[in-house]
Amino acid sequence: MSGTDANAKMSERSRRAVWHPCTQMKHHENAPLVPIARAEGVWLYDLEGRRILDAISSWWVNLLGHGHPRINAALREQLNSLEHVMLAGLTHAPAVELSERLAALAPTGLGHCFFGSDGASAVEIALKMSCHYWKNGGHPEKNEFVTLANSYHGETLGALAVSDIPLYRETYEPLLRESTQVPSPDRRRAEPGEAPTEFASRCAAALQAHLERHAGRTAALILEPLVQCAGGMAMYDPWYLRRARELCSRFGVHLIADEIAVGFGRTGTMFACEQAQIVPDFLCLSKGITGGYLPLSVVMATDPIYEAFYDDRLELGFLHSHSYSGNPLACRAALAVLDILESEKILEHNRRIAAYVNRRAASLRSHRRVADFRNTGMIWAFDVREARPGFSRDFSARAIEAGVLLRPIGATVYWMPPYVIGEADVDFLIDAVAALLDSSA
Ligand SMILES: Cc1ncc(COP(=O)(O)O)c(C=O)c1O
Repeated sequence: MSGTDANAKMSERSRRAVWHPCTQMKHHENAPLVPIARAEGVWLYDLEGRRILDAISSWWVNLLGHGHPRINAALREQLNSLEHVMLAGLTHAPAVELSERLAALAPTGLGHCFFGSDGASAVEIALKMSCHYWKNGGHPEKNEFVTLANSYHGETLGALAVSDIPLYRETYEPLLRESTQVPSPDRRRAEPGEAPTEFASRCAAALQAHLERHAGRTAALILEPLVQCAGGMAMYDPWYLRRARELCSRFGVHLIADEIAVGFGRTGTMFACEQAQIVPDFLCLSKGITGGYLPLSVVMATDPIYEAFYDDRLELGFLHSHSYSGNPLACRAALAVLDILESEKILEHNRRIAAYVNRRAASLRSHRRVADFRNTGMIWAFDVREARPGFSRDFSARAIEAGVLLRPIGATVYWMPPYVIGEADVDFLIDAVAALLDSSA
């Protein structure tokens, strides 16, 4: 079988047997799925041996490149002793070590880790914990949530209820509990000439006005610190985060920081909250935590929250579980990721490579189709002028042909590559994006 046949046959088998995520399957009648046989570093290889640059870190999970020798070795070693065991009543070194390491690394005071499986499960856990905290303290009426306009926290019903992306949400509206959206501090929404902090302050005033009236019924504000990723890589000033923290504290409302997409160095600091010097009440982590190897999520909670559940009465405890909570292999991969981030000084390396990307992308900023070119840490995005309907699919398909994995969000093109991307790979990526802008719909 020739390589090309192998690709086509696998694509067709997949179309017949697999219901792919976030996909209108009929679109694959004409656009074949791309079978990936193996991957190394920033490169994916199809069955024909053709390589594709993973410019979006496989949905933002891959931090250190595919097939990283140190993560592979850590997993092999873990396999020799314990693959999985339930985490209720039992415990194991990988979960304990990871909890200790995260508590030491995260903003001070987030002393306990509760494990989930993927990002959405972490969001569900944080929402439930917040409500349950207030109930344990005699305030069952505090069970509503505030979110930012254009936010995204996942696809399960609780997470979707605090998300604000109509395409994902509207169909399921009858299943969703109401939440309140306050204005997003997305810098693009500032008035012409309005200073970033002035604009952030105007957005914070709307949050304040809501809390002044509804704090008595509100359990928590949930937000994505610094970058609303699925909402089109909307970037905002740390000033807003600081102010949101102050307001939540003043009005007795929890702050849930969803760093599922932005944690572990993506915004330039280990956690985005550090840039605002705040400690949230809950910190949700997932995606990059295992370097993109295995599903794992964590909700870190402050000590006073943990203590509010600590009681002789069973029902005051947090009786939430997932079968694979704290899977030892996933925790071991996460520990290897933390080792690599630290010992190889990856955040410093990221600053150098980000500076190179910005120099190399300078010409894109002035491209006639590029608006609002923006960058935070290892995330770059711009909006495409005159994008026709179907732009995103057309651009993605052409990008694959050009050897790059890119999936614009509507008319927003972005890249957030694995941190190990080299200068030659950056050159390839930027040249490909420029060519695609000239040729796409
Ligand atoms: C900020 C944020 N929260 C939650 C999620 C949901 O994570 P998962 O897809 O692992 O359920 C995502 C996924 O993109 C996300 O970006």
